[in-house]
Amino acid sequence: MKKILIMNGPNLNLLGEREPNIYGSETLNTINDMLDEKARSMGFEPVFFQSNSEGALIDRLHESRLDCAGVILNAGAYTHYSYAIRDAIAAIRIPVIEVHLSNVNSRDEFRRNSVIAPVCRGTIAGFGSNSYVLALYALENILGECHD
Ligand code: DQA
Repeated sequence: MKKILIMNGPNLNLLGEREPNIYGSETLNTINDMLDEKARSMGFEPVFFQSNSEGALIDRLHESRLDCAGVILNAGAYTHYSYAIRDAIAAIRIPVIEVHLSNVNSRDEFRRNSVIAPVCRGTIAGFGSNSYVLALYALENILGECHD
């Protein structure tokens, strides 16, 4: 089974209580449980990681190049200004799909810019927790048959 990393950045540990009008009422655990089941049914072995610190996210991205076939990344607000995370994505050769729960293009001006988008394979935003599911389909498509 191909291992994939599903990674969440700052403040996403507070999903469920954090601005539910924007991010919904599901907790990160609920979303991850749903993704675990979905990913396994597609033949992936998902691993989950969340951190509020930039360095920890970068370290896990570096590690993923050794043990994962692809990454689904919601970098939270780091999306908009972390050149260090951008460089980490560019440094690893496995595909990284950028995801957002909210439609970042319909919100504050600063959320319209993603510094990581140019080094990601693609971006999915605005579909709530389904954004991660759509990213799983994108990875399945990129990585081919995953039932080995
Ligand atoms: C987010 C959008 C970001 O702008 C914000 O800083 C987040 C969550 C999303 O999933 O919609 O923390 O990445």
